Amino acid sequence: MSQGLVIMSYVVASFLFILSLSGLSNQETARKGNYYGMAGMAIAIFATIFSDQVDSYIILIIALTIGGFIGTKAALKIEMTQMPELVAIMHSLVGMAAVLVGYANFLDHSNGLLGVEKTIHEVEIYIGIFIGAVTFSGSVIAFGKLCGKLDGKPVLLPARHWLNLTLLILTIWLGNVFLSAAESGGGSVALIFMTLIAFAFGVHMVMAIGGADMPVVVSMLNSYSGWAAAATGFMLSNDLLIVTGALVGSSGAILSYIMCRAMNRHFLSVIAGGFGSTSGEVATIEGDISPIDIEQAAQLLDDATNIMIIPGYGMAVAQAQHTVNEISKLLRSKDKTVRFGIHPVAGRMPGHMNVLLAEAKIPYDIVFEMDEINEDFPNIDVSIVIGANDIVNPSALDDPNSPIAGMPVLECWNSATTIVLKRSMAAGYAGVGNPLFVHENTRMLFGDANESLQAILKSLSA
Ligand code: TAP
Repeated sequence: MSQGLVIMSYVVASFLFILSLSGLSNQETARKGNYYGMAGMAIAIFATIFSDQVDSYIILIIALTIGGFIGTKAALKIEMTQMPELVAIMHSLVGMAAVLVGYANFLDHSNGLLGVEKTIHEVEIYIGIFIGAVTFSGSVIAFGKLCGKLDGKPVLLPARHWLNLTLLILTIWLGNVFLSAAESGGGSVALIFMTLIAFAFGVHMVMAIGGADMPVVVSMLNSYSGWAAAATGFMLSNDLLIVTGALVGSSGAILSYIMCRAMNRHFLSVIAGGFGSTSGEVATIEGDISPIDIEQAAQLLDDATNIMIIPGYGMAVAQAQHTVNEISKLLRSKDKTVRFGIHPVAGRMPGHMNVLLAEAKIPYDIVFEMDEINEDFPNIDVSIVIGANDIVNPSALDDPNSPIAGMPVLECWNSATTIVLKRSMAAGYAGVGNPLFVHENTRMLFGDANESLQAILKSLSA
């Protein structure tokens, strides 16, 4: 393929990626956005395969076959609830790719660069490997925390901020050593030391972030993976990789900012770690719970006019979204107002609940963001909380020692009655007790959310 055609294909692919991002910003256009992204990626892959940069098709075919096989197998095997872990581990692969490409570029002396151009290339290699290594180790730790293999509690080393600062100064100093040594063909020792420091930095940064702040970490690592890809693009002089990496990097950064704002956190404080831990005693939950059975829950819904449904991570675990859709259809057919209240960090990945509700074909116009409906709760007859916990925890507002203190939550306790569907009194992701469960207006319906909802549906239809 001629170089002109490759460049044209890259421009078309970049355009499709931009369309994809714009489509993904809205639920109604998200599906279209995905198609644009897929088309852009297909064009990008074909243009790269047939460009004259490729000199060995055998290696390429072997790599594509192995990568394609692993990717397809993982995507088919992964449950919807494991999606965040999959995303985290994919980010780690992007990071590792940047590290490997960096080393390959460092070892390859055939580029013929001299003088300033050579120095710029070495700076690209150094920064690319640094970002890649931080992304890799940080994503592996995030993967461990998200799938429960590592404790979600923040690990706070003494003088951790000084430690981070020391690592940063060491990295800059090693960069200087690397650039001086690279002039005479050396620099590998400095590069290896910096890579080890970057790996340690990634581990330390994510280990220090508390359970409830993981949403920020997920989107931040998404952003890092984009910058790692952009750095790889600079090293390989591949314009499309630079554009795509920058798109992912900047959209991830914007998402992290939105997440921080939704959780009432300062971005820098989350990154520096320590949130999700408090020095004082967390208040203990006192009071009696009021359990109800299926018939009572169905009766409460039948008597209500204004209903708010609040889905959480437990709805994803129970795969209850289709039953939720059936119930909401039935209630609306009985002339009741049914709405959905979505917390920005409900579930385990950005937009998790929206994806599930869209999959079940719940109309978008009855799905509301937290800010849009939080003040309406006093007018709600019944709020039904489906497998949610932290996002409806009043201690976020009342208890300054709570690990989730300051995070805005869905204030469902202001409705006349709240029905909470969960299996036990277990805590949510942040590991804190929830006073909502002992609130005088709350009724607990214990059991798997899908089974309970199916039984409610049966009772309501009878
Ligand atoms: P959680 O606080 O994790 O609570 C989920 C609840 O669902 C649990 O208390 C669990 O109680 C219940 N549950 C689990 N399986 C169930 C089933 N089959 N049937 C019924 N209930 C079930 O979820 P949330 O309220 O959605 O809050 C999200 C949390 O995850 C926040 O702390 C957030 O910071 C964190 N987080 C979010 C993200 C993103 S980006 N959204 C990423 C990482 C972490 P039982 O075990 O008693 O049933």
